[in-house]
Amino acid sequence: MKIAVIGSGYVGLVTGTCLADLGNDVMCVDNDQTKIEKLKQGIMPIYEPDLEEKVLSNRQENRISFSDSVKEAVDFAEIIFIAVGTPTLENGEPDLSSVEHVSKEIAFHMKDYRLIIEKSTVPVRTGNWIKQTIKDNLAHGIEFDVASNPEFLREGSALSDFMHPDRIIIGTDSPRAVSILVKLYETLNAPILVTDIESAELIKHCANAFLAMKISFINAVSQICEKTNADIMKVAKGIGLDRRIGLDFLQAGVGFGGFCFPKDLDAFINLAFKLGYDFKLLKAVKEINHEQKSNFCFKVEKLLGKDLKNKVIGILGLSFKPNTDDLRFSPALEIIKILQDKGAKIKAYDPKSMSKAKEVLDEVCFCKDPYETAQDAEALLIITEWLIFKNLDLIKLKKIMKRALIIDGRNIYDPKRLKKVGFEYYAVGRGENI
Ligand code: UGA
Repeated sequence: MKIAVIGSGYVGLVTGTCLADLGNDVMCVDNDQTKIEKLKQGIMPIYEPDLEEKVLSNRQENRISFSDSVKEAVDFAEIIFIAVGTPTLENGEPDLSSVEHVSKEIAFHMKDYRLIIEKSTVPVRTGNWIKQTIKDNLAHGIEFDVASNPEFLREGSALSDFMHPDRIIIGTDSPRAVSILVKLYETLNAPILVTDIESAELIKHCANAFLAMKISFINAVSQICEKTNADIMKVAKGIGLDRRIGLDFLQAGVGFGGFCFPKDLDAFINLAFKLGYDFKLLKAVKEINHEQKSNFCFKVEKLLGKDLKNKVIGILGLSFKPNTDDLRFSPALEIIKILQDKGAKIKAYDPKSMSKAKEVLDEVCFCKDPYETAQDAEALLIITEWLIFKNLDLIKLKKIMKRALIIDGRNIYDPKRLKKVGFEYYAVGRGENI
């Protein structure tokens, strides 16, 4: 099939690349000309495992091309995905101006039937608004359909998530659109749920909100664990083995970050409010997530003494989760800011996000590896659970630190092992009431 994906950010680029890998002819479009030029040269705008390799191999097979022209995309493809950004405005609502602009451009250039698919995360009822926008700007008599096909890709495992989805949601009232999309996705062998547009859009809101709720639930329980000597890892496993609850997304820590959960929660709370419903549950999810970071910093203060002035603290992990260089709404940024405000001197290391971190963090000493970060530090904080942090040489680490203190915000170590090596070790919700 001939497909265009408009918006070559994380969602658009992964979607386009995977659709090309399934054997389709794909054109990825973006209005950022520098990004398109770089993509043409094989330079990726983001780090995502396997992305570069797949883009290059599909380019070699002439299945993927890049352009900055929506007109070119509309001429080229029958199926057009809209995957442009929908950042949050100051009033908490998502900015749909790019979606609107692209919809108008598609309408303007359309000469024949096109299926337009909403892939960006948008508020429920945007699909029908896109339909109306296209209708209002279209030359008379041209047929088109609009469908919602939300994505459930996780950064760090996006290509694998695309190829092995738990389900595919197709929201449309058009049988023609259903048959095109079923054909497009049939090789993935995943359950396909066909719904109306509004339900498909709401499924996306609910999936992210529910996952965020699971994380905040377990983080709230971690606070109780610290007050009762219980171990959150065991509690999470004990409840997660109940198939009705499930083991996933019950990892307590410093809270969730990233561009999706915080933004999508705000958008859902806002949307509900506009519809006349006060979504208190989701407000609490947000609040608990915020508290989790301040509680973690409070623990650091309790262990190092109230005055953090000139205390050297090493930070391992800056990205909002492992296997990505994405720093947006990363817990590390918030934690570093709180500690710096209290006078601490921060050293930091992250395997992938160092160059991005240098742009957004001030007065941080960026180190070449975890050991340089730990050198002379009075505490080492684990903020992102990168695999390499799980396999550090603990004896070496202990020797080079000023104080052998690890405060683990992701519960990556076995407390007994750490204590045996001679570390003071504190994690999240693992019984230690400081
Ligand atoms: C999330 C969803 O998982 C995807 O399904 C969705 O498509 C995506 O948002 C989106 O809307 O685009 P993502 O933000 O990439 O994906 O990452 P997650 O793996 O969901 O992690 C989000 C945050 O939650 C991270 O900061 C992670 O450290 C934290 N987390 C996750 C926990 O603190 N505990 C857990 O048990 C799981």
